[in-house]
Amino acid sequence: MNITVIGAGYVGLTTAVALAYLDHNVTCLDTDAAKLDVLRKGRTPIYEPYLDEMLALVRSRLRFTNSYPEAMAEADVIFIAVGTPSLADGSPDLSYVRSAALLIGEHVGDRLVVVVNKSTVPIGSGNWVEDLVRESYSRRTHKNSALKVGVASNPEFLREGSAIYDSLYPDRIVVGSDRKDVIEVMYNLYKPILEQSFAAPTFLSRPANFDVVPFITTALASSELVKYSANAFLSLKISFINEIAQLSERVGADITQVAKGIGLDDRIGSRFLQAGIGWGGSCFGKDTAALISTGSEYGLNMPIVRAARQVNYAQRERVIEKLLSELRILKGRTVGLLGLAFKPDTDDLRDAPAIDLAKRLIERDVRVRAHDPIALDRAKKEYGELDWTLCERPEDVATQADALVLVTEWADYRKLPWADMRGLVRQPIIVDGRNFLDRDLLQRLGFRYFGMGR
Ligand code: UDX
Ligand code: UDX
Repeated sequence: MNITVIGAGYVGLTTAVALAYLDHNVTCLDTDAAKLDVLRKGRTPIYEPYLDEMLALVRSRLRFTNSYPEAMAEADVIFIAVGTPSLADGSPDLSYVRSAALLIGEHVGDRLVVVVNKSTVPIGSGNWVEDLVRESYSRRTHKNSALKVGVASNPEFLREGSAIYDSLYPDRIVVGSDRKDVIEVMYNLYKPILEQSFAAPTFLSRPANFDVVPFITTALASSELVKYSANAFLSLKISFINEIAQLSERVGADITQVAKGIGLDDRIGSRFLQAGIGWGGSCFGKDTAALISTGSEYGLNMPIVRAARQVNYAQRERVIEKLLSELRILKGRTVGLLGLAFKPDTDDLRDAPAIDLAKRLIERDVRVRAHDPIALDRAKKEYGELDWTLCERPEDVATQADALVLVTEWADYRKLPWADMRGLVRQPIIVDGRNFLDRDLLQRLGFRYFGMGR
């Protein structure tokens, strides 16, 4: 099939590469000329494990363009994967989706074309996108009836850091549409994944016992709500364990043991029960805000989703409380942050707890030093104006630090030369924001170790 993906961001690019891997011909459109330049040279503008390798494998079936006429000409399926950032009131900014939909209508032909909403859009947007496509199509051709466009919602459930794995081996594929022909096109598009009939890449083998993937078809609005509910549920699962972590600290329990004890109950499940500094990233914050905003349009308060957000953002302040109780005075102290990305294996800094924490510390006149193995360049570009020192090596973060905070659980941080680090710090205080480091080792080396909820 001929596929066009609009938006070469974290989601669009991963989708484009995965579909090309399934032998589809893919055109990826983006309006950012610098990004296209990088991609055309065979490099990736973001850090995502295996994305480079996949890109190299699919070069002959994947091209990049900024031209709508070129990208629309042959397309059987068009994915909209442009960003939908939050506006000040929590509702998503749909201007990029709108512009993509109008441009599709301006350039699309008379064959059946399926327009797929991959961007996370508010409930009801599927119909809105279809109206926009029709509107601009009939403005151009003066014949609305000839347009064979059908719209589908196909939410993505990719985790950054394992986006390629999640694309090839998903738990399910959800497609919302009211039309049978559209569902059929989407089934055929994903057939190699649904039936797991593709040859697995050598670097990402198929998990043992991984079989057919469930194909869930729903009404448009249900599919849109699936996406929001999935992200909201995961957010509140993490916030729940963080709330229990606070109690755990007070009563002298260890939250990692509590999480294990409850997670082995199949009905609860052990994933997404890691207590710590809380969630960040491009989705959980934005999607929970959007869910609340949609709820309020219908007179619903959504108290559970609100609470998940409240607990999450307060969690960042917990780290400051720990520093305060140890250091007493923060003004003039040096605090070293290990990790900037919102999670390991990505360079994404959107809603990253580290950025928030750094800002709160800088406000209190703390000298902040920070390191990240991958996101450092992005931090220099996006947060160069902050009054902090970005360090090339973790050892530089430790030098003369009054306290260290582990913010992102990069695997390498566990293996740091902690004995040397102990020699570099001014005070041996470490707050492990992810309960990730080797507590016994650090304590043996003389660090005063503080976890989250233990
Ligand atoms: C995606 C989704 O689309 C978002 O709704 C979801 O909730 C999270 O994932 P993401 O891929 O992370 O967003 O966004 P981003 O990395 O910002 O990429 C968007 C891309 O679209 C950018 O490369 C941007 O240049 C491009 N774009 C934007 C266009 O090509 N056209 C536009 O009109 C606007
Ligand atoms: C999320 C969803 O998982 C994915 O399905 C959706 O499509 C996009 O949003 P992503 O934000 O990339 O993916 O990463 P995820 O692995 O979900 O982590 C989100 C945040 O939660 C990170 O900051 C992570 O550190 C935090 N987290 C995760 C915890 O604090 N505890 C956990 O147990 C799990």
